[in-house]
Amino acid sequence: MYKIAVIPGDGIGPEVTEEGIKVLEALAADSELEFEFEYFNLGADHYLETGELVTDEVKEELAQFDAIYLGAVGDPRVEPGVLEKGILLDLRFTFDQYINLRPIKLLNEDFTPLKDKAGGDIDFTVVRENTEGLYAGFGGVLKKDTPDEVATQEMVNTRKGVERVIRYAFDYVQDRDEVDKVTVCDKRNVLTYAHGLWQRAFDDVAKDYPEVEEDHMLVDAMTMKMVRNPEDFDVVVTCNMFGDIITDLGAEIQGGMGLAVSGNINPDGVSMFEPVHGSAPDIAGEDIANPTAAILAAAMMVEVLGHAEEADRIETAVQQALTDNKTTSDMGGDLSTAEAGDYISSLL
Ligand code: NAD
Ligand code: IPM
Ligand code: MN
Repeated sequence: MYKIAVIPGDGIGPEVTEEGIKVLEALAADSELEFEFEYFNLGADHYLETGELVTDEVKEELAQFDAIYLGAVGDPRVEPGVLEKGILLDLRFTFDQYINLRPIKLLNEDFTPLKDKAGGDIDFTVVRENTEGLYAGFGGVLKKDTPDEVATQEMVNTRKGVERVIRYAFDYVQDRDEVDKVTVCDKRNVLTYAHGLWQRAFDDVAKDYPEVEEDHMLVDAMTMKMVRNPEDFDVVVTCNMFGDIITDLGAEIQGGMGLAVSGNINPDGVSMFEPVHGSAPDIAGEDIANPTAAILAAAMMVEVLGHAEEADRIETAVQQALTDNKTTSDMGGDLSTAEAGDYISSLL
């Protein structure tokens, strides 16, 4: 029995997590797996009512779960950053989820905007550093709202933090037959201090994996190559900020924001699974959001909990739904969020 903490969150978050849970329940009904879900009311409504983001008591409770399943946070009624930093980043940091695993996999070639690219051409994984970099929260503003205003945001790179995420990327390749290359993506030609450290850490860690091929891309060239030659990548390891940006690009080349998955992973602790997309306030409440990313996030949770075969069943069902054009309007289908979840569940 797996105990899963569910944080539906804001906007389309509750709509898409409901479908993910529906699929997990369908899987449980037809496998040995069992799930128990407990809901946590965190997000804009709770914040506006109580002024609370995530309290220490809630964190202690969350620590008892096997995994956390999150929709999205962010709401136009709340100043940007309050919920994102106060809930999402706080949870990633508190649980030391130092890996953000973001597979970029084209499940159906009809859905990529890239010309002449087929399934196998777009199939790589971004390993995004998830606890440091520009996200560390250091910096400040001087002389606010004056013509002399100065704002800084420090990019924090610790040798320990950088090494552990790079090592994870190499281990990831070493453990899998189908991939053999790690590409480090940075901006070492300008961020000579910060990404000089990345460069040295990468070269040092690589020595322990002589059988794994190494490569390097500057981040600007990376975006170019993701569009032109995505088939060149197996595993890409990168800093927090660049990982955020390139995985939205990755989401689009794999078919859209409605399909992209994110696992915030602490290999020795509690991990948290969510779609790459946000709370999409522009379509919230309309029952048109694509639940596929949330459903694939549930599949990744099942895989990380140790059940690769069952996770594959969910991915196969999603793939079949895309083939059958039983999808939401963003993918050219005409199903509602709930109907799309029902269809995928029916295939399990
Ligand atoms: P977004 O990902 O929410 O939306 C971008 C665009 O993609 C929108 O047009 C939206 O309608 C569309 N879209 C996203 N998910 C979709 C889905 N499942 N089905 C169909 N269309 C979908 O990004 P944004 O608009 O930049 O941000 C909105 C809010 O979400 C902000 O408050 C932001 O901070 C927050 N956010 C949260 C997370 C998270 O919690 N993990 C991630 C990204 C953004
Ligand atoms: C993501 C989101 C978050 C990030 C925001 C909402 C803090 O964009 O998960 O990609 O930047 O990591
Ligand atoms: Mn993002």
